Amino acid sequence: MGEVIQAAKITHVPSIYLSEQPGPTQGIRQHAIDGLKELGRRAAERGADTFVVLDVHWAVTIGFHLNANERHAGEYTSHELPHFINGLTYEYPGDPELAKLIGEHGEADGLHMRVHQYPGLSLEYGTLIPMRHMNPEGAMRVLPVACNENATMEEQAAFGKAIRRAVDASDRKVSVLASGSLSHEFAPNKVADQKRNEITDEFNRQVDLRVVELWEQGRVEEFLAMFPSYAERCYGEQRMADTAMLFGVLGWDEYRGKAESITPYFPSTGTGQINIEFPVG
Ligand SMILES: [Fe+2]
Repeated sequence: MGEVIQAAKITHVPSIYLSEQPGPTQGIRQHAIDGLKELGRRAAERGADTFVVLDVHWAVTIGFHLNANERHAGEYTSHELPHFINGLTYEYPGDPELAKLIGEHGEADGLHMRVHQYPGLSLEYGTLIPMRHMNPEGAMRVLPVACNENATMEEQAAFGKAIRRAVDASDRKVSVLASGSLSHEFAPNKVADQKRNEITDEFNRQVDLRVVELWEQGRVEEFLAMFPSYAERCYGEQRMADTAMLFGVLGWDEYRGKAESITPYFPSTGTGQINIEFPVG
């Protein structure tokens, strides 16, 4: 029987890649890198076969999509921030079998599933940045999942539950990662470079911190009650589809786990970021 051995909400900010390069920005996101490495270490220790990455930078507009390629390999340069991320080479095994199984479970629930095997379907940085540190040898399988901001919270939750059932029915040990921001109000263009380590609006920071507190205390009912407003008013990246799907994987309103912050909350170019793990029972 398969098992979800890890569930976490993680950061993928491009400044992590900058932090790795020689120069004035070297080391600025070391705490985020250390947190990703620790989560990767825990996943390996628990025998993970596959990282299922709910990637807000793979944005889709209709249906639920999975990258079922046998192998992911290439050289990535970001179209959004080419001066931050360029020439990033990668190679990971994919997980077509688990993708197919998730597709079948989602389809059975009436979700519009799309399970793709196109050679040109490459990875986005919401997957690539964390995998560099969580899966450094490229030994574990990677299954990227798209985020559809047009889907309702109920659909996101249903899709997360379908992922969980598919994993349980598989023979895989799986780490599920919600790769996305907390609040995501970008710093204004004119001052974006100066605001690299700041939040855009103190309101966003305070709401983010409250959400983290609710997660750490296992107060899921209260969080879910505020979740739609939070996603809307704090500029959720892809309306926080990644977080909604992750909570679906965890069991939505039946979940009672207390989250553990691995990298404490930090601001990045106006947005709110964290690495936080949710125990899976
Ligand atoms: Fe992002």
